[in-house]
Amino acid sequence: MSATTKSATSVPSEQLSTEHLLGIKDLTAGDIDLIFRTADGFKEVLNRPIKKVPSLRDITIANLFFESSTRTRVSFELAEKRLSADVVNFSSSGSSVSKGETLVDTVNNILAMKVDMVVMRHPDPGAAMFLSRHVDARIVNACDGTHEHPTQALLDAYSIREKLGKVKGVKVLIVGDILHSRVALSNIFCLQKLGAEVMLCGPTTLMPRYVASLGVKVEHDLDKALRWCDVANMLRIQLERQGGDGIANFPSLREYAMLYGLDLERYNRIGKNIVVMHPGPINRGVEVTSQVADHANSIILDQVENGVAIRMAVLYLLAARIPRTAV
Ligand code: CP
Repeated sequence: MSATTKSATSVPSEQLSTEHLLGIKDLTAGDIDLIFRTADGFKEVLNRPIKKVPSLRDITIANLFFESSTRTRVSFELAEKRLSADVVNFSSSGSSVSKGETLVDTVNNILAMKVDMVVMRHPDPGAAMFLSRHVDARIVNACDGTHEHPTQALLDAYSIREKLGKVKGVKVLIVGDILHSRVALSNIFCLQKLGAEVMLCGPTTLMPRYVASLGVKVEHDLDKALRWCDVANMLRIQLERQGGDGIANFPSLREYAMLYGLDLERYNRIGKNIVVMHPGPINRGVEVTSQVADHANSIILDQVENGVAIRMAVLYLLAARIPRTAV
């Protein structure tokens, strides 16, 4: 972070309890409520003809992506630009990382160019926390390997709140590749802090060994699980993390889709209108068929839309913890 006190164009009256967003585990229910209320205001801004506010015009943000991304990267960049921040994008391919530069050296070199905040996606669990301990900038975890994806969980819970009017007491089913999913862990922490009930469903081979410690229900029969829930979040099968030929944890994608995929026939058999979610990118025909992904009760694109307002709220609230003077 640049050493001088910066000029703030607006400051929130309430603050987050954390200086970084490393994971949902570190947030209080009050922090999440503050992020949601702040996002409500930014959602209104995003529906104006001019979708921009000057709140972060004194702030420079570096987006460091060491892993591929479409939604998260575009959403953060849009959120930053809607807040009038200066933005610099970095991806590891084509950078000096390939010449052996360490993560801390890479980030400190970027910070030497007067960057205040770092949004980072990295394949290693704990990378964001490591960075927060070694560099002088606000860190936002845009997911760290199989660990946490905090802004995804925030936008997911926010989308449930928008669709159903509440999160407390809602029965949320998370289906699929729990073992490799940062979305699952962050969703579990977020939903539990907000008072939702959580059930996990998937093959035993895609459940982490520590599942019993998470305080969630576990059901291996998808039809039973779907009858229980109000919301089904159909996780992506993370083919790139399965090992072997990409499907080491189950016999075939066809069998996975038969047992754990949601098609229209299975959806109609549930006998009630459950809300369908997916963090993306979708493997169409595996986790959900196109008829379900594009169904009237699917809020998959609402999740993406809400991601911008949620990330604006997170960046705005974290920037408020950088020493700045009013202009
Ligand atoms: N949901 C999500 O993180 O998508 P991307 O990998 O495209 O960013």
